Amino acid sequence: MRLTRLRWKMRSELAEFQEYVGRYDLTDDKVRLKVVHTMKVCALMDELAQSLGLSERERDIAYVTALFHDIGRFEQLRRYGTFVDYQSVDHADLGVQILKEEGLLDGFGDEEKERILTAIALHNKYELPMLDEKTLLLARMIRDADKCDIFRVFASKDLTSATSTTLSSVQDEVVSAEIERMLFEHRCVEKEKRKTGLDVWMTFLGFFFDMNFSETIRIAKKQGYYRQPFDGVAFTRAQEQIDRILAEVERYIDERLQENV
Ligand SMILES: [Fe+2]
Repeated sequence: MRLTRLRWKMRSELAEFQEYVGRYDLTDDKVRLKVVHTMKVCALMDELAQSLGLSERERDIAYVTALFHDIGRFEQLRRYGTFVDYQSVDHADLGVQILKEEGLLDGFGDEEKERILTAIALHNKYELPMLDEKTLLLARMIRDADKCDIFRVFASKDLTSATSTTLSSVQDEVVSAEIERMLFEHRCVEKEKRKTGLDVWMTFLGFFFDMNFSETIRIAKKQGYYRQPFDGVAFTRAQEQIDRILAEVERYIDERLQENV
């Protein structure tokens, strides 16, 4: 598979990524999905790093964090046949273990390596713990870039594999009251509280409340992927509820963009 949007400067890391991924079945759609996702997140991360005015070195570190953030996904899929962490393994923790075992970050100094590993380990956690300023910035960046591309996956034909739902399976459902309340309180959806397929869809809208940079919010709004699945369904029971929730999320998006933070 051709790696798009190469950052030439990072060619040795890209070659290492390609070599590692080449050990897996690239004819499998699920493997390809994660390769494409990785490349998109790399591009988003670089855009974000530029917009934040980071130094060349910090831009490299940001790029490599994106390149390796989901490295655990391939082994997770091979071992367990699923991307669902709670049914298998925490893919971020597995990724950190693989990066160490394979020595994929050996080109970086100890402090840089630690920072990249910490950001990767935390990219999928519900919230961030206390961190030093530089690690916090990197962790926030990868979380935003990742979410931004997950909107694309949510809107694509990969919707089923990303959510175990389809456009027709959710059309007669509603959003659970507790999940709607979380969104109106501008909180991310707590995964264990989800009851319906539509609750799972709400997880993606909840991402906006955990986005750290107006740049990624701006990109996500412009791309518009976050609302595409909703626009593709004629909900029999939840249409008003969906309209209300989308309006609230979009009000929040515009407010964040106006504040520019
Ligand atoms: Fe991930």
